[in-house]
Amino acid sequence: MRSLNSILDLSVEELDGLIASAKDIIAHPEHYWDACKHKKLATLFFEPSTRTRLSFEAAMLELGGSVIGFSEASSSSAAKGESMADTAKILSCYADIMAIRHPKDGAPYVASRNATVPVINAGDGMHNHPTQTLADLLTISREMGRLNDLTIGFCGDLKYGRTVHSLIEAMSRYPGIKFVLISPEELKLPGFVRFNILEKHHIPYTEVTSLEDALPELDVLYMTRIQRERFDDPWQYERLKDSYVLDTNKMKLAKEKMSVLHPLPRVNEISVAVDDDPRAAYFRQALNGKYMRMALILMLLKEAERNPEREEIDTSNLRYDLVCHNPRCISATEQELPQIFRTTDKAADIHRCIYCEQRA
Ligand code: NCD
Repeated sequence: MRSLNSILDLSVEELDGLIASAKDIIAHPEHYWDACKHKKLATLFFEPSTRTRLSFEAAMLELGGSVIGFSEASSSSAAKGESMADTAKILSCYADIMAIRHPKDGAPYVASRNATVPVINAGDGMHNHPTQTLADLLTISREMGRLNDLTIGFCGDLKYGRTVHSLIEAMSRYPGIKFVLISPEELKLPGFVRFNILEKHHIPYTEVTSLEDALPELDVLYMTRIQRERFDDPWQYERLKDSYVLDTNKMKLAKEKMSVLHPLPRVNEISVAVDDDPRAAYFRQALNGKYMRMALILMLLKEAERNPEREEIDTSNLRYDLVCHNPRCISATEQELPQIFRTTDKAADIHRCIYCEQRA
């Protein structure tokens, strides 16, 4: 049995397989109407969501399965102080698979280590969002006809934007990819992606502050919202919130075939007038999310049937003598969780928390 915590849990072959499976679902939806008959998906959403939760639910219903769950932390026993581990054990009694969104980095990982059914990370804090990445990959594949040899610009909140982190991790494994990271100084990409992925694998990237300057070279532009709810200082949010607005004038600087993606919701970073531009792919992207979630649910349920045992974790390079100082880490609120770090760079003496990937 496997869970999906990070997009790196899937090999490139598996990503390509999921894309092929989603394309087959699009072509022959009737072949899948009973694929998950008598199976239940639990959606545990401790943080607001429209697309992710409802596309998971629509995905399971279109596979002939059913859905249980909650959409607010206040309506679950977490409000009474129940731990993630206990919630995961309980939900394993009621559902065949679960999707979890949580404000704390690493919460779905803790669930996956305690559940006896597959757990899907539907967005954890400022960390990862692998199923949005699945939607993004299918969108790039359908819009651009390929996932290699692309210059991809990420614009906006690259620090707190979990969709950015997961998509960079995924795209870094395809050949011929270059990244242009467009953000204010304060919202640059965090170390766990910059060092663990870009630097470690020698992926070419540049960091700039001007969207206008970057636009002409891009094949894909991934716009993001400034993540108000993750700022400690509300004044800093006020100062940065209007950093970038993509409008029809700026679109004139872009290639004729550039594709604009956005995980949504948008606040004001793409003006509504851009929606009519054929290069605006973000609403098609939201639809692609449903098909990729169908493909993922099918894959994980099939694997769980074949092998009901929970996958072992890789125990190499683990350390138990360090403490995580990230206040957003699930280990900061769940006191009984053991502190565990993995050495990611022996020579440079770098150890990262297994829940949130921040440095010790
Ligand atoms: C994103 C998220 O939740 O991280 N939304 C989504 O899942 N489509 C992006 C965001 O909230 O800005």
